[in-house]
Amino acid sequence: MTPSTRSLVIDNIGSLITNDPELGMGPLGIVEQASVVITDGIVEEVGPAGAVADERIDAEGSCVLPGFVDSHTHLVFAGDRSEEFAKRMAGEPYDGGGIQVTTDATRSAPTELLDQLVRQRLREAHRAGTTTIEIKSGYGLNVEDEARSLEIANAFTPETTFLGAHLLPTEFRGRADAYIDLVCTEMLAAAVPHARWVDAFCEDGAFDADQCRAVLEAGKSAGLGLRLHGNQLGTGPGVQLAVECGCAAVDHCTHLTDSDVEALAGSDTVATFLPAADFSTRQPYPDARRLLDAGATVAIASNCNPGSSYTTSISFCIAVAVRDMHMTIEQAIQAATSGGAAALRRQDVGRLAPGYAGHATILDAPTHHHLAYRPGVPLIRQTIGPLGSV
Ligand code: NIG
Repeated sequence: MTPSTRSLVIDNIGSLITNDPELGMGPLGIVEQASVVITDGIVEEVGPAGAVADERIDAEGSCVLPGFVDSHTHLVFAGDRSEEFAKRMAGEPYDGGGIQVTTDATRSAPTELLDQLVRQRLREAHRAGTTTIEIKSGYGLNVEDEARSLEIANAFTPETTFLGAHLLPTEFRGRADAYIDLVCTEMLAAAVPHARWVDAFCEDGAFDADQCRAVLEAGKSAGLGLRLHGNQLGTGPGVQLAVECGCAAVDHCTHLTDSDVEALAGSDTVATFLPAADFSTRQPYPDARRLLDAGATVAIASNCNPGSSYTTSISFCIAVAVRDMHMTIEQAIQAATSGGAAALRRQDVGRLAPGYAGHATILDAPTHHHLAYRPGVPLIRQTIGPLGSV
């Protein structure tokens, strides 16, 4: 017996962003007065308004776009660092040292509490239009708590990243190489069953290029995909290392040299900007236009974490990227949808085109411009796709 199929139509769409230039106007592939038919979770048809299906959602003339693909978050954590943020706003610099504060709180939190906190943050992200999300570990920093964080995250998303090399935990002070050995052996082995990716924080005050390379090579040998944090607080070897190792993405990219731009433009490594982190840490905003003009693939992600970027709002990140990083609204929306998909090497999300996942965000606005034009306004009327049931 053939299993029964269930179809849904989003109808009466004023402006549909497909991200497929073959389906509509401009780079966003915009179709006006449109409908999208989704059958068993997959886009079956994009066409004029008036299509029929088992279930109908009336978009009432508003704008619909692919669900946001948030390719960089640190959602598994306990504790609060609002005091640190307040001090920073009063003039203290950000140096990443607060990662240890969150690590202490996370290690001592019961698993049920961590699970509940992740669910709350995922619900928040979904309400804000996100349908695909990556979650890193990195606040366990020992074998048991890194594995526990990944196991919790992996119950919600396949896009989980082992970030044991986030910061040197206090018990390893003065013994960074011994810690890296642990990350590359026992900790990695415990992480692998729950992780798709491996990551490291390549920055002064975190880990150097050789230490990060060791982590990436060990992760690759264990079958994980590669990503890297780099060039967040200053220029450094992160971008070049990520390109050399074939990372899917290098994230932050706040401080780039000309040769970093050239290396990214000539590679498959996606440059992921994290505008809310630059906002919250008072870093100078990077010039995204410089990378786009050079031909690099660019993503935008929330970097939701308790220290440098406590937001799940991709709309906020888009508004900042447009206002302060010189992206056009269209470039920023692409970066937060198909760019995020490229950063996760996913070919099934980030577009509303036949064969892609039927993950959609319905705005309370007639055009996509409103995402940057009306900053801080809750414009997401409905999000269709996973994460909704967490
Ligand atoms: O991506 N850069 C390193 N990790 C996080 C910050 C973590 C924290 O401050 O707790 C980031 O910004």
